[in-house]
Amino acid sequence: MAKFLITGGAGFIGSNYLNIMVNKYPKDDFVCLDSLTYAGNFLNLEKIKNNSNFKFIKGNICNKKLVFELFKKEKFDYVINFAAETHVDRSIVNPTIFIKTNVLGTQVLLEASRKYRIKRFHQISTDEVYGDLPLNRKDLLFLEDTPLKASSPYSASKASADLLVLAYHRTYNLDVSISRCSNNYGPYQFPEKLIPLMIKRALNNEKLPIYGNGENVRDWLYVEDHCEAIDLIVRHAKSGSIYNIGGTKEINNLEIVKKILNLLNKDDSLIEFVNDRLGHDLRYAMDATKIQKELNWSIKNDLSLGLKKTINWYLNNQEWLKKVESKEYLNWLKTHYKNN
Ligand code: NAD
Ligand code: TYD
Repeated sequence: MAKFLITGGAGFIGSNYLNIMVNKYPKDDFVCLDSLTYAGNFLNLEKIKNNSNFKFIKGNICNKKLVFELFKKEKFDYVINFAAETHVDRSIVNPTIFIKTNVLGTQVLLEASRKYRIKRFHQISTDEVYGDLPLNRKDLLFLEDTPLKASSPYSASKASADLLVLAYHRTYNLDVSISRCSNNYGPYQFPEKLIPLMIKRALNNEKLPIYGNGENVRDWLYVEDHCEAIDLIVRHAKSGSIYNIGGTKEINNLEIVKKILNLLNKDDSLIEFVNDRLGHDLRYAMDATKIQKELNWSIKNDLSLGLKKTINWYLNNQEWLKKVESKEYLNWLKTHYKNN
């Protein structure tokens, strides 16, 4: 029996993780701490909200008093930090909140973890901390010891958090692990990220804005496969270890958007090329051999299966898509895509 603190558990990946693990481990307790920003929604936890081993607390990871009191009261064994500002485009417009939540918020959690002697602090990181790779060198992949070379304010804030986690391990001997995953997709992803945004716009017969020439490459990971990898790392990995999760499917943005249109029986003429993102990373590609060999992890959902499941989920949950549309989100769309 163990007690888990799951920060950011009302967001996309955290809610998928909780929806699986709260049922998979009925003897473990899960406390979700989430400030419910525009990207977090209690609706994502509807299916587990009444489980006796689940509890939700609305609060900010930057609030030291609240966090320390929570740690004192709950006596957590494990902390998994999903909480973050996560949208690269928003980090280009307003980097400050990214530094607050992703760097300072992580440090508050690390301090509390040190003081209350938890068993393991796990940081959910990203392949974006490695920077990007050239398009014409398919032989190059990110490894766990690839130097950090972040490009955007978002990825720089995530790289900073990784360094803090490792510093707490080295300096205070805090038991930690880090996972760096590639682009996730699946149910409950907020419709500002590429895949759900394109599904939503295609369903409404709106233009699909592709940045630049659509040749930027991403490596797509179905969210449930990611959650299984996190579970393996948290329970079985050595303290201080870092694992890449991904390496499942590299594909460029134009191709993946065409696949989405095809699955929705919509025409490619909906595609529109728009101004490129500033500092746009060209290619992410992961070598995930370490987790495959050491923890026996492998994917269960390749891109064609995962994309079908994802599209079906959005088709069956159009109410959800409407309900998560805050005023703030509609404003973001209006200003960010003003010419489209
Ligand atoms: P998300 O934006 O969907 O959810 C983030 C959650 O964190 C939301 O519920 C939000 O309310 C909460 N949150 C934000 N600031 C907070 C604060 N100060 N205090 C408490 N809660 C706060 O993000 P996601 O896609 O689920 O990403 C989860 C983690 O995975 C993040 O750390 C992200 O950097 C990492 N990651 C995501 C991807 C991806 O493709 N989505 C890829 C690599 C890494
Ligand atoms: P995104 O989902 O924002 O994830 P990330 O930037 O973390 O990889 O974007 C995925 C890719 O899709 C990225 O290359 C940017 C591109 N993109 C578009 O072309 N148009 C869009 O409207 C969005 C949101 C993203």
